Amino acid sequence: MHQEPVLVTGDPKAISYVCANDDLFPRNEATKQVLQTVFPNSVFVQEGEEHRRQKKLVSGAFTYETRFEKMFTRKSSTLLSPPAVQELSDILYDLANQMVDQWKGELETSTDAEYIVNVQKSIQVLATDAISRSALAYSIKDSKGPVKDLLARLGDLEDNQLTVFLQLVLNKIPWLSKLPNPVTLRWFRFRAELGYIADDVWEKGVLNHAFHSRLLEAIGQDQRDIAIGQITAILFAGSETTANIIVETVHKLTVYPHIQDKLRKELTEFVKKQGMPIPYADLINPTALPYLDAVMKEALRCLASVPHLQRRAGVRTDIPLEFPIRLSNGKVVQEIHVEPGQDIFMPVRDGINTSPELWGPESKKFIPERWLDGTIPKIVETIQVPGHILTFGDGPKYCLGRAFAFAEFKIFLSTMLLNFEFLTPQSEDINKIIFHLSGPAVKPTVKGREKEGPALPLAIKLLS
Ligand code: HEM
Repeated sequence: MHQEPVLVTGDPKAISYVCANDDLFPRNEATKQVLQTVFPNSVFVQEGEEHRRQKKLVSGAFTYETRFEKMFTRKSSTLLSPPAVQELSDILYDLANQMVDQWKGELETSTDAEYIVNVQKSIQVLATDAISRSALAYSIKDSKGPVKDLLARLGDLEDNQLTVFLQLVLNKIPWLSKLPNPVTLRWFRFRAELGYIADDVWEKGVLNHAFHSRLLEAIGQDQRDIAIGQITAILFAGSETTANIIVETVHKLTVYPHIQDKLRKELTEFVKKQGMPIPYADLINPTALPYLDAVMKEALRCLASVPHLQRRAGVRTDIPLEFPIRLSNGKVVQEIHVEPGQDIFMPVRDGINTSPELWGPESKKFIPERWLDGTIPKIVETIQVPGHILTFGDGPKYCLGRAFAFAEFKIFLSTMLLNFEFLTPQSEDINKIIFHLSGPAVKPTVKGREKEGPALPLAIKLLS
């Protein structure tokens, strides 16, 4: 059977065109099958009209009135809008402080020469509980029974050479995923675990502004399965992605201690003047805490936890290009032709977000200062999404949780850095920490200890 070669593009105009026209470029089959397995019938698996309807429904169900709005206006804003996230920052601070207290308690009783925490595990649990408490008004961590244990194990989907190879085969021949195989079984396990949590959330979370009660209202009482699919999608989308960017940032701060010191200095000086906790308005204000903002922007650029976007050409068409290319026959073209069924692969993390052609010769390096010293080349403005990065996608499938992710990143990172110093453990070889695509997001594992699942062991020292 003839198959068109995959089109791989990092051209800003081409990516924007493909993402904007989701009716011409739906998700590819392999991605859809994974999404349908894990988040059945949710917004993630829909296309066209149904996608628009469900996205509106999910955003609508996220509608949340801040206290001010409830008291003084008839307007409500979305849960993930900046004013609503501000109110929810209390929840995020509370969770971050709980984690810090737990680490402090363990550190005090530890007799080890250096105290090592699995940062990946702690942040993963924290982020899942954060989205659950904020969006679903339900604390998974405080729940009784198996859900709490499931949360601790969530995302422990170990990868090995076989699963990586099989994933490549399944991308080429999607129907094979209907047969039992380690990759599909892994996804089924993931779905079962997330679904179990979503089920518990559904059963027990009963608050006026909880996502599920609005969802139920929007889709009807008899649509429980669809609602559970959406809750599962939100739990996943709101935790895996944000957690892993925070985890990888903490790792970067141990590799580059001068960045960690500089960031901590900015935070401690701010706290000395203004007190704790740092108000959300200051946290998100780039002029109040400019280095924190620069570290976040650099993390979102270099450490995109969803490393690429994938679509499939639904029709025969031409995709416009920002930068002309020379074909193998020598012809220079301003657009590229695709055939129906042709896969389109758009690398974000190792592509448009870090391309030397756009970001300059030091594009791959983690340098937060670039956001402050005016050295970002003007050409990045050809990427016409907020922040000029594709980390949150583009077009109708653009991320709903950007503002929430910003709040979570800044609150969790600042709370950790104000309490602890993060160091490379003497007992661990830093070169053995590998960040790679594991299941849906980029995660760390320790080389040789893959069976233990995602892990980032780091030494922590309590600050005096
Ligand atoms: C740093 C954190 C995050 C990253 C890197 C991220 C990344 C993405 C990306 C790349 C997409 C587009 C996927 C595509 O076009 O195929 C997306 C969509 C989405 N994200 Fe996020 N996300 C993050 C945080 C969140 C949070 C916190 C939530 C929820 C609270 C969320 C909910 C969603 C939803 C509902 C969609 C829409 C999917 C669709 O329309 O099909 N995300 N996200």
